[in-house]
Amino acid sequence: MERTLIVIKPDAVSRGLIGEVISRFERRGFRILELRMMRLTREQAEDFYSPHKGKRFFGDLVDFITSGPVVAAVLEGRNAVEAVRTMIGSTDSAVAAPGSIRGDYGLGLTDNVIHASDSPESFRREMFVLFPSVDMENSF
Ligand code: CMP
Repeated sequence: MERTLIVIKPDAVSRGLIGEVISRFERRGFRILELRMMRLTREQAEDFYSPHKGKRFFGDLVDFITSGPVVAAVLEGRNAVEAVRTMIGSTDSAVAAPGSIRGDYGLGLTDNVIHASDSPESFRREMFVLFPSVDMENSF
């Protein structure tokens, strides 16, 4: 079993899509190990997106992810990182395949509905930023 982290972004939260998005993962068979609504500080957002530091869209990304509440969740299931990345679809919602979460619920690039860890290493780093009090080895 593998774990991954998702963040339902402020655009989707404000549009009332939390339930729709979470239910897709439940129906797919993922177990929800953590689920929390939170408002990221600027510092947390900069840490969370540190791999993108220096890119021209970094400032917009940090502005956007701190613009309203997000819902972060830890999901567990077989091949979770890859399976969830496939479910969310291409980064640019406007070209994401219909049937994927971005392809069904959005058209934005920065405001692209949802984030998911792209590797087990990213998952561990992102957990540290968003769920610092969760002991990965001994909880769940
Ligand atoms: P996410 O999966 O959260 O990871 C990094 C985010 O950066 C990505 O989703 C997009 O929201 C954003 N992003 C990636 N590429 C671009 C780009 N070219 N312009 C603006 N935002 C981008």
